[in-house]
Amino acid sequence: MKIEKILHSRIKEVDFNNISFGNYYSDHMICSEFKNGKWKNSVIKPFSDIMLSPVTLVFHYGQSVFEGMKAYKDKKGEVFLFRPEENFKRINRSAIRLEMPQIPKNIFLNGIKKLIDIDRDWVPNNYGKSLYIRPFLIATRGILSAKPAEEYMFIVISTPVDSYYKKPLKIKIEEKYSRSAPGGIGFTKASGNYASSFYPTKIANKEGFDQVLWTDSNTHTKIEESGTMNVFFLIKDKLITPKESDSILSGITCDSIISLSKKENVTVEKKNIKVSEIIESLKKGELKEAFGCGTAVVINFFESISYKNTIFSFPNLPEVERLSIRLRKKLLDIQHNLSYDPFGWRVKIERGF
Ligand code: PLP
Ligand code: COI
Repeated sequence: MKIEKILHSRIKEVDFNNISFGNYYSDHMICSEFKNGKWKNSVIKPFSDIMLSPVTLVFHYGQSVFEGMKAYKDKKGEVFLFRPEENFKRINRSAIRLEMPQIPKNIFLNGIKKLIDIDRDWVPNNYGKSLYIRPFLIATRGILSAKPAEEYMFIVISTPVDSYYKKPLKIKIEEKYSRSAPGGIGFTKASGNYASSFYPTKIANKEGFDQVLWTDSNTHTKIEESGTMNVFFLIKDKLITPKESDSILSGITCDSIISLSKKENVTVEKKNIKVSEIIESLKKGELKEAFGCGTAVVINFFESISYKNTIFSFPNLPEVERLSIRLRKKLLDIQHNLSYDPFGWRVKIERGF
């Protein structure tokens, strides 16, 4: 991969004590083009605008998929990715469903390692902060007919970040709108999934909620996921999370939490979760905690859940008693190289890689 470095870094403009999601972008980005069936012109170059024709297909038909991953720093200043191979596999699963080309490992994984090595000073060194990496694939061919583009661009940018939400969340169980449907693209990280979630989320925000909890599009009785998070519920002493389906994005954080919970001897089960089960266990006082998880949010617990205009509050446990807080620390400790990583999740970015 060709490398064109910037002459003057913009890093001095960054107030690392005051970073919110996406207010600064690191010095470099990856760009790679797909044309005539081949990837070419792969380059790491200074972060810059890209110029596209108004007829570029992505603007009209939304052929676009992306990933979200993070780089963490340890106390010695070494930098680590977290399970990047999973993001690599997932973007290619998304690409298949949106009739887009597969991204080669060498461009995705080796490119990102090189990019993060070059921009390693942009990885914050405080606990819980990280460099959020956004790989994305877009259709670039300038043609107005509704068909796959044949020409694509793969880009990777990154941004230093703190926690995504800074407080417990008020959640609304969605009964009218749907994020996805059986046979659709809910299991992919397609940009359109996010676009279609904005309007229902805005309505929920206006009603005083932070996020919607999506339910199945047919009956609105089964729980799927919430905002940019997979969800967990602790009922009595069992942690449950919705079973994978083609309308839920299979989260890497969710999978990590399942492994961590098992290691902590917490019983964990993936299953179809009915809204009625959650409401009943709340009424009986058996639901102890509920939380969402994802790359951007890590783990964020829920304060309340609203169903048919009734707001149910989760028990107001002190943080030391919360499983979600314990799991969050276990996960972040592994991510920041503060604890042994029995799963082999951390991937060190070698200097001069
Ligand atoms: N569900 C949605 C819709 C998301 O956007 C995300 C975030 O990426 C997740 C779930 C969690 O996935 P992951 O843990 O891989 O980030
Ligand atoms: C992520 O957690 O990576 C996400 O996708 C969140 C993002 C949409 C802000």
